[in-house]
Amino acid sequence: MKIELSNIHKSYFNKDAQLEQEVLKGISLKIEQGEALAIIGPSGSGKSTLLNLLGTLDKPTSGSISFDGKELVDINDKDLALFRNQKIGFVFQSHHLLPQLNVLENILLPSIAYGDKKSRKEAEKRAIEWLEELGLSNKVHQFPSNLSGGECQRVAVIRALINQPVLILADEPTGSLDSESADIVGDLLLKLSKEQGAALVLVTHSREIAQKLGEVYELKGGVLNGLGKTDDG
Ligand SMILES: Nc1ncnc2c1ncn2[C@@H]1O[C@H](COP(=O)(O)OP(=O)(O)O)[C@@H](O)[C@H]1O
Ligand SMILES: [Mg+2]
Repeated sequence: MKIELSNIHKSYFNKDAQLEQEVLKGISLKIEQGEALAIIGPSGSGKSTLLNLLGTLDKPTSGSISFDGKELVDINDKDLALFRNQKIGFVFQSHHLLPQLNVLENILLPSIAYGDKKSRKEAEKRAIEWLEELGLSNKVHQFPSNLSGGECQRVAVIRALINQPVLILADEPTGSLDSESADIVGDLLLKLSKEQGAALVLVTHSREIAQKLGEVYELKGGVLNGLGKTDDG
């Protein structure tokens, strides 16, 4: 697995100012199998924009995004959706669990869309194992409203990984948690993606959590600057 961003530009039309606003000004980045990198940067600097491009949820104004040498910008929306479901796991700041589904049903939702019976069974086994490991085995059939914010976010992490994606994209996943829960969720993301051999791109406000990843980048003024490798990497 290898993802390559090459000279990515992204502009939005700002309705208030009635002009184009260039948010990303030539971003190049390589992500290899199993790599873990953190992106920090001021609010409004384009971190979510960059993550959405990596996640094929949006397209760049110019530049190329390739996945194992295949140009993603050229793929049609239907194939892109299939690609996304199979290869990429997302975690957002709020957990986005569906309130009417229990914990297990929420986790298995991404595997229902495309999996056959056998892969669904395996996904269920994996989900229950991971919940047990996290001390959430008594919550399997509970609804999200009966869980704390930190517990919901742990469930959201498991859901993001259930299809065994090769790339995990996390957009400030610990931003709405107290520092203790934030550490638990941050460590869980790192541990599970490492175990699964998935690459992890984590946008975070927390330098402490960022330092735990192999490499830290800062997005500022539309450009991405490497702040160097940490000891773990
Ligand atoms: N869909 C959109 N339409 C217009 N402007 C947008 C859109 N999404 C983001 N922006 C603008 O792009 C800039 C970067 O936003 P964002 O990527 O969300 O930054 P961050 O995640 O670093 O806080 C902001 O000025 C924001 O207002
Ligand atoms: Mg953001």
